[in-house]
Amino acid sequence: MINRALWLLGLLPLSWAIDAQGSVKSTVPGSYLVEFPMDNTSSASDLDAYMRQFSREMADRQIPFRFVNNYTTVFHGCNIAVGGEYTSLMSTLESVKVVATDTQMSSDAFTKIARRSLVENPPLPQLAHESTNYDKLLAKHNVTGKGVKIGIIDSGIDYNHPAFGSCYKTPGCRIQYGHDFVGDNFNGSNTPQPDDDPMDNCNGHGTHVAGIAAGNDNAFRGTAPEATLGIYRVMGCRGKTSTSVMMAALQMAYNDGMDVINVSISFPSGFTADIASFRTEAFAKKGVIVVASVGNEGIYSMWMAGSPAVGSGALAVGSSDPEFYWSQVVNITTSTGARTYSRSAPQDHLHHFNFVNTPVMVAENGGSNDACSPLTHSAKGSILVTFMGECSNEVKVQNAINAGAVGLIIAMRPGGDILSPVGLRGNYSIPAVTSHYELYSDIKIWGSGGNHPMLSSDEAFARRHNAEGPVIASYSSWGPGTDLSPKPDLIAPGSNIYSALPLSMGRYGIISGTSMSSPYVSGIVALMREKFPQGNVTEIKSLLIHVANLLRETLTSSSGPSTRDLGSIVQQGGGTINVENIMDDFGLTIENRISIGDDTEAPPENPNWRKFTVTLKNNTPKTYRLNFFHHVGLTITSYSDNKTYADNITYHNFPIVVRYQPVVNEMIQPFSTFTRTGFIELDNVPADKFYVVTGYNFFRIYDGNRYIPRQAPWMGLRGRFRDIPMLPSPGHQLAPMLYSPDGTSATSPPYSYDASQGQLPKFRFHLMFNCELILFQIGQQTGDSAVQYHAIEYMYATYARRNYELLDNPFYNFTWTGTFKVDNTVNTYKPAPAGTYFFSMRLLKPTAKENETDAFVTWESPEFQFLPAA
Ligand SMILES: *[C@@H]1O[C@H](CO)[C@@H](O)[C@H](O)[C@H]1NC(C)=O
Ligand SMILES: *[C@@H]1O[C@H](CO)[C@@H](O)[C@H](O)[C@H]1NC(C)=O
Ligand SMILES: *[C@@H]1O[C@H](CO)[C@@H](O)[C@H](O)[C@H]1NC(C)=O
Ligand SMILES: *[C@@H]1O[C@H](CO)[C@@H](O)[C@H](O)[C@H]1NC(C)=O
Ligand SMILES: *[C@@H]1O[C@H](CO)[C@@H](O)[C@H](O)[C@H]1NC(C)=O
Ligand SMILES: *[C@@H]1O[C@H](CO)[C@@H](O)[C@H](O)[C@H]1NC(C)=O
Ligand SMILES: *[C@@H]1O[C@H](CO)[C@@H](O)[C@H](O)[C@H]1NC(C)=O
Ligand SMILES: *[C@@H]1O[C@H](CO)[C@@H](O)[C@H](O)[C@H]1NC(C)=O
Ligand SMILES: *[C@@H]1O[C@H](CO)[C@@H](O)[C@H](O)[C@H]1NC(C)=O
Ligand SMILES: *[C@@H]1O[C@H](CO)[C@@H](O)[C@H](O)[C@H]1NC(C)=O
Ligand SMILES: *[C@@H]1O[C@H](CO)[C@@H](O)[C@H](O)[C@H]1NC(C)=O
Repeated sequence: MINRALWLLGLLPLSWAIDAQGSVKSTVPGSYLVEFPMDNTSSASDLDAYMRQFSREMADRQIPFRFVNNYTTVFHGCNIAVGGEYTSLMSTLESVKVVATDTQMSSDAFTKIARRSLVENPPLPQLAHESTNYDKLLAKHNVTGKGVKIGIIDSGIDYNHPAFGSCYKTPGCRIQYGHDFVGDNFNGSNTPQPDDDPMDNCNGHGTHVAGIAAGNDNAFRGTAPEATLGIYRVMGCRGKTSTSVMMAALQMAYNDGMDVINVSISFPSGFTADIASFRTEAFAKKGVIVVASVGNEGIYSMWMAGSPAVGSGALAVGSSDPEFYWSQVVNITTSTGARTYSRSAPQDHLHHFNFVNTPVMVAENGGSNDACSPLTHSAKGSILVTFMGECSNEVKVQNAINAGAVGLIIAMRPGGDILSPVGLRGNYSIPAVTSHYELYSDIKIWGSGGNHPMLSSDEAFARRHNAEGPVIASYSSWGPGTDLSPKPDLIAPGSNIYSALPLSMGRYGIISGTSMSSPYVSGIVALMREKFPQGNVTEIKSLLIHVANLLRETLTSSSGPSTRDLGSIVQQGGGTINVENIMDDFGLTIENRISIGDDTEAPPENPNWRKFTVTLKNNTPKTYRLNFFHHVGLTITSYSDNKTYADNITYHNFPIVVRYQPVVNEMIQPFSTFTRTGFIELDNVPADKFYVVTGYNFFRIYDGNRYIPRQAPWMGLRGRFRDIPMLPSPGHQLAPMLYSPDGTSATSPPYSYDASQGQLPKFRFHLMFNCELILFQIGQQTGDSAVQYHAIEYMYATYARRNYELLDNPFYNFTWTGTFKVDNTVNTYKPAPAGTYFFSMRLLKPTAKENETDAFVTWESPEFQFLPAA
C-alpha cells in the first residue's frame, strides 16, 4: 500500500481561523475583490459606468476606500483597500456581483533550494523527458515553441541565466515581456512595491519553473526551448502572494498576448466559483490556456484540488514521480561492498553535505532510533542516521549535535517517495539531509553485524532509476472539485525535477512539487500551439488528457485482496503525460468529461444506474474504424464507518457493471461525431460512504495503418452529494463546542459571559467538508419560546476549506464581540443588552443554492447569558 506520506506534515505550515475579516482563509487585511455584474456582451463603457456607480454607492454608504487595481479584461471588477469590515454591506450594492476578501496564496513547491556550483560543469539533460516520450515526439515533429508566448506568473526569473539567453527584453531575446508586481519584500499581505524588473535572485521558484517550461542551455532543455517568455513576478523572496496581485498579473499576461499562462500557485479551496479560481473559463473562451498546479495537499485526502486549478477553464496538473531522475547521492561502503542512495539537498544553501569515508551509524536513544531524546552513545565525528517523525526535525538535529555528529540523515517513512530537504527553523551547525528508508534499514543491519559502514558524498548529481516506474506522487492533491468536477486533468513529472536556479543560488538544482509539473505541461501546450495555431483550447486539452498513460496503484483493498489496479482519476486525471502521440490525428477529440452526480439521469428500470454519453469528434478528413471497451477503476472513499471524515483514503473494488451497445468496427466518417450512451450500474456500491467511482472508456481507433490511442475517464459519486456531512454528529469529539467563559472546555454549560471581565462568547467547529457559504447569527430568547435572530459583524464566510483532522488544532474559532448590526444596509452596530442568547450557524450544502429549501445544515449552540461591558 502506498504510504500517504505523513512525514510531509511538518513541512506544511497551516493555521486557519475565522480572522478579523470574518474569513476562514488567510486573508490580506483590508483588501477586497469586487466583481461587477457584467457578461460577455458588456462593453468598455459599461465597465466605466460600473466603476462610477460603485464609487457613488460606496460614497453613499460612507464606506472609506481606495482603488488598488482595476481589472478591465477577462475579469471585470477591481481590487480595493477598505478601512473597516464592510463585506456584507458591500455585497448589497447594486453595482456588485461578488465581493470577496483577498486571499494569500503560496507556491506549490515545498522543496527548499539546493545550492550547487556548476561553474566547472555543463548542465545536465532533463531526465523527466525520458518518462514522457519527449524525444519520440521530437523525432516526429520539429517543434520548439518558437513564436509561442508563455506567460509565467511566479517569483520572477534570473534573466542573466544562460538558460534564458542571459538577456532581458533586448531585440531577439527570448524574454520579451515582464513586470514585477510586488518587490522582494512582499509577503502576501503587506503593500506590494511594483517595478519593471522581474529579477528573481532570492526565491528561485520562478526561475526553476521557467527552466522546466522553456530553458535552453547546452544539454539542458525545457519542454519548449525556443518559446518567448513573459515573466510576471507575483511573489517576493518569501514565496507568498495574494489573489488580487495574481489577477493583476493574469490581466497583464492576457494583454501581452500570452498563448499559455502558467500558474504554479494555489489556494486549497476547490470551488470553481471562488474568485481565487480567477474565472479561468473566461480565459479559455478567449483561447488562452491557463495551466495550473493542483496543489501539494495529497496527504489531506480527497476534495482538495486547489484554486485556480479547479477552475473549469484551467488545465489542472498534478504530479508524478518520474521513472528517471537526477539526485545527489551518498555512497556507503562496508566490508561486503558499496551501495548508493539518493539524498536531498541540505537544509539551506549555506550547508554542504560533503564527506569522504566518514563513519555512519544509527541513532540509539533509549530503545528507540528516532533521535527524539538524547543519544545513549557518542557520535563524535560520525554521520548519524534516524527517521522522520515522532518529534520535530529541530529536536533530532540538536540531539545529533549534542552527541558530536558531523552530519544527520533523516530517512523517509517506508514508501515515502520524494526527498524533500529537511525544513529547519533556526540555524544549526551541521548539515541535515533526507534519504530513503532503505538507507536507515541497511545501516541498522550492517551496524548490528559489527560492520563499520563508511559514507562518502559530494555535490555531484547522479542518474537514478525509480524501480516502480512512474507513479502518482503521494503529495499531489486529490480532487474532485467541490462541484464534482473531475480534477486534476492529468499529472506530469513533478518530483525531483532538475532545472535552472538563479546564478546566485547555484545555477541548477532540484525542486519537487506540483509547481514543477505544471510548467512541464505549459511548455508542451506551447508546442501544441506552435504546431496547431488554429487549435482551440478544448482540442488541445483533450489530446493531452486522452492520450496520457494511466498509472496503477498497488494497494490493499478494504473489500478484497491486495491488488494492483488503475489508480483513481480523482488523483491522476487522464494519467501521466505521454507526449509521443499528442500531435497525431489532431482534431480527433473526446469532448465531454463524464462526471456523475445524484442529479445525473437514471433509467426508469433502476434508480442506481447512471446514464453516460461518450462523444468522439472527428474533425479531420480521415475515416476511422472504431472499437471501444471499458475498464472499471478503483472506488475510493475518505469516510470511515461512522462517516467521520478520515484524512486518509480507502480503496475498494466493488463490482461495477458498465453497459452499452457493443462498439465493434463502427466507422467514423470525416468531420462527424460519434456518440454512445450507456449505463453505469452502481447496485453493488453501498450508498452510505459517498464512494467515488471511476472508470475508463478505451477507444481503439484504426486509420488503416495503425491504432490511435484515446481514452475517456469517468468519475461519479454514489450517494446524495448534498448529504455529505458538514459537521461531526453531536457527542463526537470534533462536534461544534461552546467555550466556557475562561476560554476552555473544562466546565459544562450553561455559561454566563461577563464582557466587563473580558469574557466573550466563543465557539469552535470542525468543518468536515468544503463549504461555499457559512452564515453566523446570534439568536436571542425574547420570552415564551420566541426567538429573534440578529445580524452580527462577521456574518458570513465564503469558500471555507474543510479542516484537516491530522492537524493538532483542526477547528475554526468564532467569537462574538457583543454587538448587533442595526440593519444590513448601513454599517452601524449597537451593543447587545444583557440577556439569553445562542449562536446560530448555517452551512450551505454542496451544490445547494441559498434560496432552496433544505439548502443549509444548521447548528445552534446551548443558550448562554451575556452581560455587556458597560
Ligand atoms: C481557538 O481558541 C482556542 C481557545 O481560546 C485556542 O486554544 C485555539 O488555539 C484557537 N484555535 C485557532 C485555530 O485559532
Ligand atoms: C455569452 O455568454 C453566453 C452565456 O454564457 C453564451 O451562451 C454566449 O454564447 C456568449 N456569447 C459570446 C459572443 O461569447
Ligand atoms: C481605477 O478606476 C477608478 C475609476 O475609474 C479610477 O479612479 C482609479 O484611478 C483607477 N485605479 C487604477 C489603479 O487604475
Ligand atoms: C526545424 O524547423 C526550423 C525552422 O523552424 C528549421 O530551421 C530546421 O531546419 C528544422 N529542422 C528539421 C530537422 O527539419
Ligand atoms: C508581512 O509583512 C508585514 C509588514 O512587514 C507584517 O506586518 C505582516 O505580519 C507580514 N505578514 C506575514 C504573513 O508574514
Ligand atoms: C507554469 O506555472 C508553474 C507554476 O507557477 C511554473 O512552475 C511553470 O514554470 C509555469 N510554466 C510556464 C510555461 O509558464
Ligand atoms: C558514489 O558512487 C558512484 C557510483 O559508484 C560514483 O560514481 C561516485 O563518484 C561516488 N561518489 C562519491 C562522493 O564517492
Ligand atoms: C473546438 O474545435 C472543435 C472542432 O475540432 C469544435 O467542434 C469545437 O466546438 C471547438 N470548441 C470551441 C470551444 O471552440
Ligand atoms: C486510515 O483509515 C483507516 C480506516 O479508517 C484506519 O484504520 C487507519 O488507521 C487510517 N490510517 C491512518 C494513517 O490514519
Ligand atoms: C468514529 O470512528 C472513529 C474511528 O474510526 C473514532 O475515532 C470516532 O470516535 C468515532 N466517532 C463516533 C461519533 O463514534
Ligand atoms: C435561486 O437563485 C438562483 C440564483 O442563485 C436563481 O437562478 C433561481 O432562479 C432562484 N430560484 C428560486 C426558486 O428563487
